[in-house]
Amino acid sequence: MTPTPTKADRFSFGLWTIGWTGRDPFGDATRQPLDAVEAVHRLNELGAYGITFHDNDLIPFDATTGERDAQIARFRQAVDETGLAVPMITTNLFTHPVFKDGGFTSNDRSVRRFALRKVLRNVELAAELGAETYVVWGGREGSEYDSAKDVQAALERYREAMNTLTEFVTDRGYPIRFAIEPKPNEPRGDILLPTLGHAMAFITELDQPDLVGINPEVGHEQMAGLNYAHGVAQALWQGKLFHIDLNSQRGIKFDQDLVFGHGDLMNAFSLVDLLEFGGPNGGPSYTGPRHFDYKPSRTESYDGVWDSVKANMSMYLMLKERATSFRNDPEVQQALLDAKVAELSEPTLNPGEGYAELMKDASSFEDYDADAAGAQGYGFVRLNQLALEHLLGAR
Ligand code: GCO
Ligand code: MN
Ligand code: MN
Repeated sequence: MTPTPTKADRFSFGLWTIGWTGRDPFGDATRQPLDAVEAVHRLNELGAYGITFHDNDLIPFDATTGERDAQIARFRQAVDETGLAVPMITTNLFTHPVFKDGGFTSNDRSVRRFALRKVLRNVELAAELGAETYVVWGGREGSEYDSAKDVQAALERYREAMNTLTEFVTDRGYPIRFAIEPKPNEPRGDILLPTLGHAMAFITELDQPDLVGINPEVGHEQMAGLNYAHGVAQALWQGKLFHIDLNSQRGIKFDQDLVFGHGDLMNAFSLVDLLEFGGPNGGPSYTGPRHFDYKPSRTESYDGVWDSVKANMSMYLMLKERATSFRNDPEVQQALLDAKVAELSEPTLNPGEGYAELMKDASSFEDYDADAAGAQGYGFVRLNQLALEHLLGAR
């Protein structure tokens, strides 16, 4: 029996995920377009709590103001009827040819002004719909050729854009925070702010850093060969995990956007364990939406699309159940003790001790038996085997 999701699980989906018609660089669409109103009703029936979208997932790029208003009204009616939340909104600054050299960091100044206006207009819509998070994914902010992009100037323009946006929400009194989504490459050869570490360092240079965090995506970090759960842990430690994009990836290749857990399952297990039990008292360390940003494979009909929606949510819930059983097992608790996992939370210096006292402590150095400490075994392999046995349902 797979678990059934409820709204309390806070699962949300991008309209562009289930609405992806399967067009890729090599082939045409394999599915008909999905109407936004149907998407809202289907997600609600399947147990999701929220829906997110780019401006142009809902409103065509060249819509008149009247067409825009009508489309927003239809969508609003559907979310009101179902009680689905709209926790996050974002902007499409990548599909139209005008953005082929980027939005905020295009070499062409008029494109940058247009991009900023497009975002400002959509932030107003985010406020109207009650979204708390505004994602900024700079998929086209980058280059193919180092000679063609002044990276320092581009970062200066990125900063200018982010400062303008935070000033806007502050002046308007909107309770909205921004979340930058890093990605190393695709569609550009190299994308600016390629990893969550680059993004968090960039945020420290902004005027209102408290209003800007990150939206890390599983596959994007794994495309760079990085450990996603480690990155998310650092984001939590720095108070910057404002939102999350869950999906899967198998190794360093193009952005696969697989169903959550269908790629690196062990890292997905560690991630769910961290999000659900990595808080200071063993509770959740992240309380925001569990947002899926994946692509239902183009081999699938709409039956397969809805199956993949269910699969994302049940993968998360099954991993949560497996992590609970791991945490509650007395053998695991003993193995964690043996591995000194909790000892890492003890400060290295004694209370009130500084380097001067440490330098006088012969037991820490002159009399320390480094060979004995070097000879000890930590038992990490056994601990990891226990984790796998829980993950596989063998315990
Ligand atoms: C991708 C990205 C996007 C963003 C989305 C939100 O690789 O295509 O993950 O899907 O998440 O544009 O801004
Ligand atoms: Mn992606
Ligand atoms: Mn994403």
